[in-house]
Amino acid sequence: MDFYIVNGGPRKKYNTVQLLEKASEGIFDELENNQIEDINIHQIRLYDLDFKGCKSCFHCKRIGGKYYAQCPIKDDLRELLPEIKNSDGIVFGSPIYFGEITGELRSFMERFLFSALVYGGESNAPKRMPIGMIYSMNVTEEVFNQIYGNKFDILENSISNLYSRPYSLKVFDTFQFSDYSKYENYAFDPELKAKRKEEHFPIDLKDAYDLGVKIAQDSLKINY
Ligand SMILES: Cc1cc2nc3c(=O)[nH]c(=O)nc-3n(C[C@H](O)[C@H](O)[C@H](O)COP(=O)(O)O)c2cc1C
Repeated sequence: MDFYIVNGGPRKKYNTVQLLEKASEGIFDELENNQIEDINIHQIRLYDLDFKGCKSCFHCKRIGGKYYAQCPIKDDLRELLPEIKNSDGIVFGSPIYFGEITGELRSFMERFLFSALVYGGESNAPKRMPIGMIYSMNVTEEVFNQIYGNKFDILENSISNLYSRPYSLKVFDTFQFSDYSKYENYAFDPELKAKRKEEHFPIDLKDAYDLGVKIAQDSLKINY
């Protein structure tokens, strides 16, 4: 079975990566517990790839066209997109930048989603696989509810319509700098941030692990 972990963040050791690693572990453990032997969990770091967002060429919607339901752009997503679309499950992770997923993940989503979208029709995705979304951000849950509200609904509804309703994990109040004293900051109390990291981040990691388990379980239900 093939699963994809898609990291939409630039940092190699911080929150998003650790959360995605846990989700990956959750997938692996659940599959192994179910005696699945051929387990491939592919790790994709979007910042390592060369690609841009949708170019609005409409080849994916051209009736009878060579690239119908596919994205024809020749870049690092050309071969990856069909593989991901035919996989058994995907977990996306992103830090939140100015209230949104990163530009890289957004560009990826434009291509992943638009090539499967039929205006007013059924999804053109080759299959419906379980999907997880993990967002990590500085704001607290309280602030998120006040100012972000249903911020990710449009994206998640599009994923639902075309692939499946994603599991959504929001990780709040993250630890952003290894040493807060080195960076200008009047917003965050370093001690509270450290405390949150120590006390709550392990819970976030467990939630990410559980999300991975659910992705594997759903995939097993679909495939076996
Ligand atoms: C360019 C930039 C913009 C950011 N904007 C927001 C934001 O709008 N809201 C928020 O809660 N955190 C914001 N953050 C903080 C990150 O989302 C947060 O620290 C996240 O957990 C980082 O993930 P990482 O450790 O995997 O890089 C921003 C960080 C950067 C670098």
